[in-house]
Amino acid sequence: MGAMKRELVVLSVFGTRPEAIKMAPLVKALEAAEGVNSRVCVTAQHRQMLDAVLKQFSIVPDYDLNLMRDGQTLTTITTGVLEGMAPVLETLKPDMVLVHGDTTTSTAAALACFYHQVAVGHVEAGLRSFDRYSPFPEETNRVLTSRLATLHFAPTERSRMNLEREGITQGVYVVGNTVIDALHQMVREDYVFSDSALRELPLEEGRWVLMTAHRRENLGQPLRQICLGVKQILAEHPDVHLVYPMHPNPLVRSVVTDILGDVERVHLIEPVDVADMHNLIKRCYMVMTDSGGLQEEAPALGKPVVVLRTETERPEVVESGLAILAGVKEEDVYRVGCSLLSDAALYHRMSHAINPYGDGDSAGKIVKILQRYAQQLMG
Ligand code: UD1
Ligand code: UDP
Repeated sequence: MGAMKRELVVLSVFGTRPEAIKMAPLVKALEAAEGVNSRVCVTAQHRQMLDAVLKQFSIVPDYDLNLMRDGQTLTTITTGVLEGMAPVLETLKPDMVLVHGDTTTSTAAALACFYHQVAVGHVEAGLRSFDRYSPFPEETNRVLTSRLATLHFAPTERSRMNLEREGITQGVYVVGNTVIDALHQMVREDYVFSDSALRELPLEEGRWVLMTAHRRENLGQPLRQICLGVKQILAEHPDVHLVYPMHPNPLVRSVVTDILGDVERVHLIEPVDVADMHNLIKRCYMVMTDSGGLQEEAPALGKPVVVLRTETERPEVVESGLAILAGVKEEDVYRVGCSLLSDAALYHRMSHAINPYGDGDSAGKIVKILQRYAQQLMG
C-alpha cells in the first residue's frame, strides 16, 4: 500500500475589512478543495469591521492575533504581526501562506514568512501607483510584498506587466479579482437590508450617491475639501441624497460629521456589512469614494465612480471609462460630481462599460494553481 498523500497546508492571513472581503471567497474555495488543508489566521488589525465579514462568510479563524488598538501606528501593527505570526508559523509549518493586497498586515505577514522560510502567495499582486508615498503606505507595501512572494496572483494583464517591469516573471498568474466572486455571492434582486438604518432610507426617492472616504493621505485638509465639494453638490441638486457609511477612525468621523452632519438629505451611518454594501451599491446612482475595493465593485455593478484621490493604482477602471479621477479639491469634486448628475450621455457611457476584473471565478483559478503547485512540491 502506498503512503497516504500529504495535503498542502495553506494558511490565509488577513486583518482588515477589504482583505477579508476579498480573501473570503478564496478561503471558502480552499476549504472545499481536494488536496488542501486550509487554515486561517487573522491579525485583527481591524476588529469590528473584520468580524462582520467573518460572520457574513461563516469563517472561523484558527488563529486570531487580536491586534487592533485605538491610535495604532504602522510600527505597532508591524511589530504585532511579526511577533504574533512567529509561533503560528513555527507550530503549523504551512507549505504556503496567502496574503492579500497592500495593508500593513499583508506585508508584515509576508516578512514573517520570509524569516521562517515559508513560501508566500500574493493575492491581488502587481497594482502600482508609481508614487511611493501615495497611497501611503500601501504603494510601498505592494512593492515589498512582491519581492517577498513566490506566487503572484495578478488581477489584470496590466498588473502582470507591472511585475514584469520589476523583473518578476516567475509564478505570475492573471486571475481577475476575487472581489467579483464576493459580489456575485452577495447581490440579489430581492435582497432585504439587514441594517435597520438602510431599511429606513427612502431609496425610491430621487437619486442616491454612495460615498466613502478614509484613506490616510486624505485625512485632514483633503477630506475637508472633499466634504465641502459634496455639500455644494447636494445644495444644488434637490433630488440627490447621499449615504455615507463612515469608517470608525475618529480622524475620519470628526471631519465628516463637522461638515456633513447637519446637511439635508445626507445620511451618515455606521459601517454596514458586506452583503448590505454590495446591494446598496446596486441600488445607488453613483459612487464617490477613495476606497480601492469600491473602484472595482461599483463598475462591476454598472455604477460610475468618482475617485476622490489624486492617483489610482487601478488605471484600468479610469481607462475603461468606468471611473473619473476627480482629485481632492473642493471645486474638482464638485465639478466632476455635477457632471455625472447632469450629463446623461456621460452617465450612460460610464454605466455600460465592461469591468476589467474578470467574471467572478478568480478563487477557483487560484485554487487550481495551488493544486498544481502542490503536485510539483510533493510529486
Ligand atoms: C487600513 C489599511 C488600508 C485599508 C483600510 C481599509 C494599512 C496601513 N492601512 O487602514 O490600506 O484601505 O485599512 O479600511 O494597513 N478602527 C476601529 N474598528 C475597526 C477598524 C478600525 O475602531 O474595525 C479604528 C481604530 O481606531 C484603528 C483606526 O480605525 O486604530 C485605524 O485603523 P488602521 O487599520 O490602522 O487604518 P485604516 O485607515 O483602517
Ligand atoms: N464596505 C463594507 N461596508 C462599509 C463600507 C465598505 O462592507 O460600510 C466594503 C466595500 O464594499 C469594499 C470594502 O469594504 O468591499 C472596501 O474597504 P475599504 O474602503 O475600507 O478599503 P480599501 O478597499 O480602500 O482598501
